[in-house]
Amino acid sequence: MVCHSLAPFVVLVAALFLRQVQCSPVVFEKRGICAAEDPDTTFLSAIEHVKTDETQPTDAGSEARKGPIEIETWFHIITSSAERDQVSDDMIASQFSILQYAYENAAIRYRLRGVTRHVNDAWARNADDLGMKAALRKGTYQTLNVYFQTDLQASPGQAGREGRPEIPRTNDLSSSVLGFCTLPDPSVNASSPRADYIKDGCNVLANTMPGGSLDLYNRGGTAIHEIGHWNGLLHTFQGESCSADNPGDYIADTPQQSSPTDGCPARRDSCPHSPGLDPIHDFMDYSSDVCYESFTPGQNERMRNMWVSMRAGK
Ligand SMILES: *[C@@H]1O[C@H](CO)[C@@H](O)[C@H](O)[C@H]1NC(C)=O
Repeated sequence: MVCHSLAPFVVLVAALFLRQVQCSPVVFEKRGICAAEDPDTTFLSAIEHVKTDETQPTDAGSEARKGPIEIETWFHIITSSAERDQVSDDMIASQFSILQYAYENAAIRYRLRGVTRHVNDAWARNADDLGMKAALRKGTYQTLNVYFQTDLQASPGQAGREGRPEIPRTNDLSSSVLGFCTLPDPSVNASSPRADYIKDGCNVLANTMPGGSLDLYNRGGTAIHEIGHWNGLLHTFQGESCSADNPGDYIADTPQQSSPTDGCPARRDSCPHSPGLDPIHDFMDYSSDVCYESFTPGQNERMRNMWVSMRAGK
């Protein structure tokens, strides 16, 4: 951890798998200095492919893409011994219902198959991401596993991005990461062994859950945001550019945005010469939880299409 006292970061894990393009290690630097890191080329070409399919409504996948999507989900609550009582059953129930509600317009439902609880100091700070997931990950590639960890820090070797904005120093901030998650891996197929995707899933700082202790970020928005990545969405400010040539988040109805939003401003326009204001109420920006409201229709459609092409049946 280079700058331990600095802001918590949401880390977008672009490529976790060794046989994929290697990404540089997580860099913890002050927000605004850290260079943004792009998702790997395999993922970007997959997203291009899905995007092209979206413009061809008669293609074979289109019927499947309209059907209901239900994602089997496991929540794993990982606490340190000091924080063993931090996550109540009410917080878990509340997090799940907020998640369900956030994805309603996408017609994506989550079915909570179970909640596991573990007291483990090393896992709680994510000192053994692989070991933890090897022990806990349930289901197959289409199963969502969310690890809520009381002392979450990014683990070495994970591709990281700078993240959500700096939190006032007065907060009881004992951790440096709000969350990170894997994007869908286009190389996983129905016969891939579990080892190929064992790290797939979302790691979320436990006190971002509704009723958690992290001011401004304790309404459950972090899990919604990270699961957006799991469903194949990039940040609304992806590419951090106002250039018309920059594909940004590959979503047509999110206005171009050249930098993440801090907190919850009344309005913001980081690309004044491009149409639209910054999507500060979008779940895939870095606004504070109170600012989070929705995904766009384009993001909803993309998540559904990513599910069909990347995860369903695997
Ligand atoms: C699935 O992936 C593995 C390795 O990534 C590959 O060897 C295999 O041919 C693939 N199977 C199918 C049916 O595409």
